Amino acid sequence: MSPVSLDDYAERARAVLPPAVWDYVAGGSAAEVTLRANRSALDRVAVLPRVLRGVSTANLGARLLGRPYAMPVGVAPMAYQRLVHPDGELALAAAAGAAGVPYLASTLASTPIEQVAGTGAEVWFQLYWLRERALVRDLLDRVVAAGCRALVVTVDVPVLGRRPRDLRNAFRLPAEVIAANLTDGRDALAHAGAPGVSATAAHTDASFAPALRWADLAWLREQADLPLVVKGVLDPRDAVEAVRAGADAVVVSNHGGRQLDGAPASVTMLPEVVDAVGDRCQVLLDSGIRGGTDVLRALALGAAGVLVGRPLLWALAAGGEPAARDALALLAAELRDALTLAGCPDTAAAGELRTVAVG
Ligand code: FNR
Ligand code: LAC
Repeated sequence: MSPVSLDDYAERARAVLPPAVWDYVAGGSAAEVTLRANRSALDRVAVLPRVLRGVSTANLGARLLGRPYAMPVGVAPMAYQRLVHPDGELALAAAAGAAGVPYLASTLASTPIEQVAGTGAEVWFQLYWLRERALVRDLLDRVVAAGCRALVVTVDVPVLGRRPRDLRNAFRLPAEVIAANLTDGRDALAHAGAPGVSATAAHTDASFAPALRWADLAWLREQADLPLVVKGVLDPRDAVEAVRAGADAVVVSNHGGRQLDGAPASVTMLPEVVDAVGDRCQVLLDSGIRGGTDVLRALALGAAGVLVGRPLLWALAAGGEPAARDALALLAAELRDALTLAGCPDTAAAGELRTVAVG
């Protein structure tokens, strides 16, 4: 039977992926408390539907960073997509392009940014700040030349979170999967196995600048004439700092429960962040989004849109570009139903819905 929910793709992916790759994608940090909280907190947001408003079907269109998209959803930046399917980033980006949603390309992509942009998708580049500022500069030049639409700086990885599954598996990248955007010569670290060590963590810790400040972001703002998104804030005070540094949007995110364990679910912090900066920048949400009703919850709480991570990697793993397209079409169908059932003619109307905390 074809998948009827995004969770169906997880089962299929699990059946085809090597266990250590499944663990790398599915896992979180430490005791995975935050990973679980992302789901349970979303389930506790009840949305009050409106009735008799003459809505027979909803329009899903949304503007993100001033550009029109088919729905208020983007593909979250995820590293090393060739780990799960040989077509990797090219397949998922093409699926995003077909669905009319932005594809966020990771600094740690296993396909160079120029090729990802060549799929024709609307690509937002996700930057991990490298230790050498000259390398950041080079990367930004490539990103602008490739025609990327936005720069997304991820700020919740001063070091990679400790992920017990990866440590237990001594997780490392296979030879054919490389950090294709990076030219710092540290790639060997990601492939070198040692008991009790995550090679990907060793690689990122050697490559990323750990002690960044808001002033560094202001520098970045001047380097590229692109909308700036700050991904990975939970505290509203940091959202205020981001706006001060020139951010056009923030992503309320705990990195899918992969960084600080014990941090709150991102949806728990969404209303406070919207209160703090929602009138000055767009607020996006990720971590735990698994269907159209979750997108509705986020919109009702004031988000302009969401990013979806793991479910799209599961779809990619299960069936390459066609499955990723199907997964995005399924999400669109679910969102259309959710909006219609809530009495919303469009995504803007969802922002007027009331929510109730339950459970
Ligand atoms: C990620 N995430 C991530 N974020 C980022 O800014 N750059 C990256 O390279 C990666 N890499 C990455 C790899 C994998 C395998 C996963 C699962 C996640 C985090 C990602 O963008 C997003 O914040 C979360 O995945 C959202 O949570 P869900 O939807 O996966 O629950
Ligand atoms: C991760 C990093 C690479 O979450 O962002 O695995």
